[in-house]
Amino acid sequence: MTPDPAPSVARRAFLWAAGLLLVAPLPAAVGSMVDRFLAVRVRPRRVVIPPDLQNTVTFADGVIVTREDGQVRAFSARCTHLGCLIDRTAVDLLVCPCHGSRFHLDGTVAAGPAVRPLEPLAHEIDPKTGALIVHAT
Ligand code: FES
Repeated sequence: MTPDPAPSVARRAFLWAAGLLLVAPLPAAVGSMVDRFLAVRVRPRRVVIPPDLQNTVTFADGVIVTREDGQVRAFSARCTHLGCLIDRTAVDLLVCPCHGSRFHLDGTVAAGPAVRPLEPLAHEIDPKTGALIVHAT
């Protein structure tokens, strides 16, 4: 008996169908994993700053709150240059510790290398407690 030199058409079709059945669920599985990852990464969160901690500049849990001329502003503390956390001030400027970008209290750039202003965040005052609630991402 001599071996069959080429697989039959039915055998090839079977192998293709089996292969498709094996890989068909992959996009859904990968999509589900990505959705779960993004849900964890971008879940909105609230940063609550009690009234007694509200200063001209407040750093709290990845957000910056500034008070200037009676106006309250909230920003992400992520530097718009390369994403370091801004955690200090110098003479009414917010200073990034990584490469020295400086931002005015309204979030605009005072000195680079950053060229974009800080990301503003929605915020509100809790009428019951007076706490400032910042909606961060
Ligand atoms: S990451 Fe802030 S200046 Fe570079």
